[in-house]
Amino acid sequence: MADIVGAYFTSHVPAIGGAIHRGDQQDPYWKPFFDGFVRVHQWLALTKPDVAVVFNNDHGLNFFLDCLPTFAVGAADQYHNADEGWGLPIYKPFAGHAALSWHIVEQLVTDEFDPATCQKMQVDHALSIPFELAWPGVDAWPVKIVPIAINTVQHPLPSAKRCLALGRSVHRALTSWPGQERVVVIGTGGLSHQLDGARAGFMNPDYDRFCLDNLARNPDLLTRHSIHDIVRLSGTQGVEILNWIAARGALGPFATEVHRNYHIPISNTAAATMVLNPA
Ligand code: DHB
Ligand code: FE
Repeated sequence: MADIVGAYFTSHVPAIGGAIHRGDQQDPYWKPFFDGFVRVHQWLALTKPDVAVVFNNDHGLNFFLDCLPTFAVGAADQYHNADEGWGLPIYKPFAGHAALSWHIVEQLVTDEFDPATCQKMQVDHALSIPFELAWPGVDAWPVKIVPIAINTVQHPLPSAKRCLALGRSVHRALTSWPGQERVVVIGTGGLSHQLDGARAGFMNPDYDRFCLDNLARNPDLLTRHSIHDIVRLSGTQGVEILNWIAARGALGPFATEVHRNYHIPISNTAAATMVLNPA
């Protein structure tokens, strides 16, 4: 079976890409956020994953409002980054692990999930920014990826309960995989933020703390809120917490918190970073 080395979670605010590009990591605005990655880099150097299963959301790059799968699994040998409109640099391509993708799809369908399977898929800032943060300046990404996109964009959105169950199904796939790959599970986006509408700029540190405090030990507690409760509590884009919840499910039954960083604001977002060990 795969060796699940742990889980890494981070916000994926596009402006982070601009800060990296300008070398602003020590700038007073950015430092409290980037300082949270020293520990992530140490942990990755120790755990040495070679595959990443990445739960993220597409922001209108592959899927638009006219055609939006609830769950979509990438099953390609390569994924290209593109910018859906933020003016970000285009990051180097990501090698896929198509065989593992199909194994995960088989398990999901066995467990009565019905994902879209994408043998062609682009990845946006929801994947590239967390990778730039985790492995800054590398010539080639050290992991192959299996990207899993969750609809956090157009209602009806999947429930937190459904996303945790999806992640748990992916965990079953990883435990029945015949290979020995060292897998890191990644969840991106959040925490609370709302980019538009009457509550633009809304953030909610109390709800964010509730999520961070319970993600490792009591992830089922995060499923007690309906999707509309989550929108109220965390903002229209704060629902990206669904990616974290799914990733937590994929980590497995047990988890210990290794590291967390929380900083308000980065752009319009309450930014958070977390690392969990699988025990
Ligand atoms: C911001 C945050 C996001 O998660 C995103 O996808 C786009 C923008 C922001 O805070 O600016
Ligand atoms: Fe986002």
